Amino acid sequence: MLHGAINLSQGFPDFSAPVELKEAARRAIADDINQYPITWGAEAFRHAIAGKYADLYGMDWVRPEHHVTVTCGSTEAMIASMLGVLDPGDEVVIFEPFYENYGPDTIISGAVPHTVTLYPPDWIFDEAELRDAFNERTRGIVINTPNNPTGKVFSRDELEMIATLCRKWDAIAISDEIYEHIIYDGQQHVPIATLDGMADRTITLNGLSKTYSVTGWRVGWTISPPSLTGAIRKVHDFLTVGAPAPLQEAGAVALGFAEDYYTSLAAHYQTRRDALLEILERHHFTTYKPFGAYYIMTDISAFGFADDVEFARYLVKDVGVAAVPGSSFYKTGAGRTKLRFCFCKKDATLQEADRRLLKLVPAGATLH
Ligand SMILES: Cc1ncc(COP(=O)(O)O)c(C=O)c1O
Repeated sequence: MLHGAINLSQGFPDFSAPVELKEAARRAIADDINQYPITWGAEAFRHAIAGKYADLYGMDWVRPEHHVTVTCGSTEAMIASMLGVLDPGDEVVIFEPFYENYGPDTIISGAVPHTVTLYPPDWIFDEAELRDAFNERTRGIVINTPNNPTGKVFSRDELEMIATLCRKWDAIAISDEIYEHIIYDGQQHVPIATLDGMADRTITLNGLSKTYSVTGWRVGWTISPPSLTGAIRKVHDFLTVGAPAPLQEAGAVALGFAEDYYTSLAAHYQTRRDALLEILERHHFTTYKPFGAYYIMTDISAFGFADDVEFARYLVKDVGVAAVPGSSFYKTGAGRTKLRFCFCKKDATLQEADRRLLKLVPAGATLH
């Protein structure tokens, strides 16, 4: 903001949320749904959530009373889950690069993060490395598919490998599926909770933020086995009491949107993905094509800067485009050659970024 830069950093849309959703929120406020909701979620919303999992994934065992907890965004869903289920000294496996919150959430919960590398360009993990990360202290593994920042969509085979290790070591999968509908090129989202024996050892996290372009509403949820729901709800109660009451009513309406809403959401984002990939490649970034979520990881080695933070600063101040330094997503130094851009923006925003990036030249090249 200080430098008037085009913001391709944080993942929030700069276009409008669906009209029907905004109408539903207005209606709920006018109807005086303005007091504390049931701590673990308004009834209509929890029913809509349970219905969605049954319809979309055949998860007909999800009960609004026993499995669903509504939280202030999936951010709260993650910390409430971790505080609820982790004990000091537990270990949590996290794939690196990772969405920033997973490390601090684990540490705040008194547990120890144990990272397993996702290797570019395809962001695959080494099965032996994953196996080695599990031991008797492992209480859980965080999965994020479709993935921020890489755009990786975990395959059923990869999820089966993870599930096998969870069953072997009696560990919980904490699965952040907030980008489930933002998926490209015919890829399929597989919730790990649907795999054999995983319903009883998976906490699925999700929310309204990304699917309905309302990141400021702060409405999310967990789906957990009844054996864990009590702990999550208690932590949630003491953290926030409840998520915004009228927005939960609107959420119940959103979850009833017809299928074409979701196909059109993915199609629009795929067009923007292709546009930003083309822009970044033309401006000499090495890109890693995402298959889901709305980010593009890039390699910036060609520009000859000391590290990602120096380059990101230069890009904001001198070029006028903001992006996130890769090191934000790594515990190790591997992020120092990376930069993440987001494309949840209007065409005009991406075009303006394109125009500004003309100023950028790779090391050793000369300006014409
Ligand atoms: C992987 C991932 N999880 C969670 C969040 C935050 O979601 P919410 O707005 O529901 O708290 C984000 C936001 O960027 C994200 O990328």
